Amino acid sequence: MTKKVNNIAVLTSGGDAPGMNAAIRAVVRSCSYYNLKCFGVYRGYEGLMNNEMDELNARSVRNIINKGGTFLKSARSQDFRTKEGRKKAHHNLVKNGVDALVVIGGDGSFTGALKLSEEFNFPVVGIPGTIDNDINGTDYTIGYDTALNTVVEAIDKIRDTASSHNRLFLIEVMGRDAGDIALNSGIGAGAEEILIPEEDMGADRLIESLRKSEKSGKTSSIIVVAEGDKSGKNIFELGEYVEENLTGYEVRVSVLGHIQRGGSPSCFDRVLASKLGVGAVEALMEGQKEIMIGISHKNVITVPLRKALEKREHRHDKLIKVADITSV
Ligand code: F6P
Repeated sequence: MTKKVNNIAVLTSGGDAPGMNAAIRAVVRSCSYYNLKCFGVYRGYEGLMNNEMDELNARSVRNIINKGGTFLKSARSQDFRTKEGRKKAHHNLVKNGVDALVVIGGDGSFTGALKLSEEFNFPVVGIPGTIDNDINGTDYTIGYDTALNTVVEAIDKIRDTASSHNRLFLIEVMGRDAGDIALNSGIGAGAEEILIPEEDMGADRLIESLRKSEKSGKTSSIIVVAEGDKSGKNIFELGEYVEENLTGYEVRVSVLGHIQRGGSPSCFDRVLASKLGVGAVEALMEGQKEIMIGISHKNVITVPLRKALEKREHRHDKLIKVADITSV
């Protein structure tokens, strides 16, 4: 394979996601395989602006494929949103002889990557890493599958209490703008109702539907609520509303929070991360830039970074119907 780049840097940015380590490992080992130099940048764009980077080799990434989090650490950088910040970052890349950057992260990280690429004509490739699965142009993001399994396991446990005490539980899961975690974990854990940001069910329809469930003989209920749901009430207010309008159940609220982001990545996420990491390095070697490496029907694909940042089409219709049918 001919090489258009010689020295690649890799960083993780934004919220950590299980499988990020596996993606870093794949990038570093691809560099080793193709005889490229590889730098690991610490603390995302923050570290890039402060010139925190070390050269990594194949052995630097031993025993990390199974670890959650990111050994390069991550940050949500405010300074990188400024032109001044990006200038510092670009200066450090050039100073270290780096000629291309791999950014593993979500939409905020990709927005920064696109700016860096446009302003300095610097080759950048994004790898989608976020538990939310909210990036346009890829079927899956790294970390999503692991988070889903964590959520399903947690809901299964909560269900034990719900059914032992005839309670109704509202369980908040992550997903500021995307209902993927809520919808899929809700179906997987047999939730009675699922509230997602893409659809406003409305509190009254929720009550109506819960009354129906009660009448049909259900003695407990699980409602999965994505943190970005559009009911206009936070989960505690929603819990109070349900309690006031539904007499049959005792109501409890449970916010799963950051347990969803941690833990050892699933095999699916490890393999996905490995494929995307290799794909990123190979794309850079071919001279591709300003792209995201994604996955579509099991194939590794390239997507223009700008397109990856576009609003994703609402693609939940069929799953919503499955959820409705299977929760009668
Ligand atoms: O983007 C991933 C995510 O986990 C979102 O689902 C959530 O809203 C957010 O990060 C929380 O971010 P932080 O850890 O910075 O509070």
